[in-house]
Amino acid sequence: MSLLRVDAVTRRFGGVVAVDGASLNVPKGTITGLIGPNGAGKTTLFAIISGFVTPSAGRVVWKDADITSMKPHQRARQCISRTFQIVQPFAGLTVLENIAIGAYLRHADRSEAMRLAADVAKRVGLAAQGGQQASALTVAGRKRLELARALATEPELLLLDEVLAGLNPSEIRDIIPLIRAIRDDGVTILMIEHVMQAVTNLCEQVTVLAQGRVIASGAPRQICTDPAVVEAYLGRGAAARMQAHA
Ligand SMILES: Nc1ncnc2c1ncn2[C@@H]1O[C@H](COP(=O)(O)OP(=O)(O)OP(=O)(O)O)[C@@H](O)[C@H]1O
Ligand SMILES: [Mg+2]
Repeated sequence: MSLLRVDAVTRRFGGVVAVDGASLNVPKGTITGLIGPNGAGKTTLFAIISGFVTPSAGRVVWKDADITSMKPHQRARQCISRTFQIVQPFAGLTVLENIAIGAYLRHADRSEAMRLAADVAKRVGLAAQGGQQASALTVAGRKRLELARALATEPELLLLDEVLAGLNPSEIRDIIPLIRAIRDDGVTILMIEHVMQAVTNLCEQVTVLAQGRVIASGAPRQICTDPAVVEAYLGRGAAARMQAHA
């Protein structure tokens, strides 16, 4: 069953067509990858799915209901949650208080929100840092915090915008099983990712965006050898040149 469907969505910013007639399907219970060169429109598509940006055309369908005009907080209530590419925790708050911000979506009571935050902190490997100021976290810690804040809203769909960016190979290796465990707990995941090792490791299917358009979609291994994808990353004629040198 398709949990989320994006139907022919377009978004213009002045003269720039950031997303151009893109369609996407996210089946329930999967990890789906969204890849593409810089400026391809990936984050804009996330903003459209989560309601921060309104599309100029097209529809966003959640569990067979059209949610295109729904506000971000309403979508969060409908169990769609996102992380942000630029991670900005509230510096004056502790790690647990930052996570609790997500928990307040469904738990108005502070002690309940803090209890849920503590559970989530444990789940993402931040239990020991719960009482620390969020500003004291390393980059890897901030990425985990961003993941935790989104998880604390108790999502059914989690949109991860480059949670591995800026991490070193061993930090990436540590976080991959965490993402898989979140899916195994029943959360469907759509992830934007440049780290291909993570994409091939985690994703059942991948959609490739280039200049706002979907140019390929399928299993990760199949995507990596698709000439249109190779050209989008490496330039026109690259696929033929690689063939010639093979
Ligand atoms: N609010 C905005 N106003 C104007 N232009 C925008 C806005 N948001 C995005 N754009 C433009 O839309 C295009 C797509 O940007 P977007 O951030 O969605 O790409 P991306 O695929 O996430 O790139 P990256 O891999 O670098 O994160 C870019 O040309 C960008 O400059
Ligand atoms: Mg982006």
